[in-house]
Amino acid sequence: MAATVIDGKAFAARVRGQVATHVAALKADHGITPGLAVVLVGEDPASQVYVKSKGKMTLEVGMKSVEHKLDAGTAEADLLALIHQLNTDPEIHGILVQLPLPGHLDEDLVINSIDPAKDVDGFHISNVGLLGTGQDSMVPCTPLGCLMMLRDHHGSLSGMDAVVIGRSNIVGKPMAQLLLGDSCTVTIAHSRTKDLADVVRRADIVVAAVGRPQMVPGDWIKPGATVIDVGINRIDKPEGGTRLVGDVDYDSCAAVAGAITPVPGGVGPMTIACLLANTVTACCRANGLPAPEGLTV
Ligand code: GUN
Repeated sequence: MAATVIDGKAFAARVRGQVATHVAALKADHGITPGLAVVLVGEDPASQVYVKSKGKMTLEVGMKSVEHKLDAGTAEADLLALIHQLNTDPEIHGILVQLPLPGHLDEDLVINSIDPAKDVDGFHISNVGLLGTGQDSMVPCTPLGCLMMLRDHHGSLSGMDAVVIGRSNIVGKPMAQLLLGDSCTVTIAHSRTKDLADVVRRADIVVAAVGRPQMVPGDWIKPGATVIDVGINRIDKPEGGTRLVGDVDYDSCAAVAGAITPVPGGVGPMTIACLLANTVTACCRANGLPAPEGLTV
């Protein structure tokens, strides 16, 4: 039977709709407008596209959007001073420093200078520690989006075997923590994993986040498994031009899987939707209000 296609584009639109509803209520009931500041250092073309899209969607859900675009050669002290200013600005509830940063800037130092309560990426070591110990935290946006789609599709994930391929701080590790939090039996596989095909074949849930185009073939997938493809890779088409593909070979995996996210239109749109959700969550917590149900873990 053909796999169910998990429509991340439609799901993300629903999440943004929920965010907009909460933003409207915060304004009407409390006179508060959630504010998100995005900091971009340098002119990386992909980052410029992301930042523009984040700003547009932030405004669309009724939030305040602030963008700081700094020269590629910005001194670390100047970036840290800007972050300090945003940390103390009461109208800013979320701060995102777009990665990667130019090589002369210490990414860990910069990320850890953000107030953890405003760290809507969930990358600050305090948030990493809170997530790992099952406490309220800011949860990284891409894994949060993946978890929302998995919960929506399966209801409970309890007892399922999950394999996360990739061990990045942004996706692989927090994804594994979230799946563990939902009582999955979790394996984190990576480039040194032995017999990767056999490891993946055991999984009821496969999350592929390696950044290698079409690396997972259909014969690695257990029949009926759910495949979440985090990869966004641009490849050349044989007839000329390029197209986007994920980390899994979509056609062969979709023939075996029970459910699968497409690329584009799967995980990608959920990331910005979850960034907006995290900003509302941060704003609520900053004002002593409960975080909206369904928009966080
Ligand atoms: N660069 C690519 N993805 C991300 C992300 O989720 N957050 C930040 N800050 N930078 C990124």
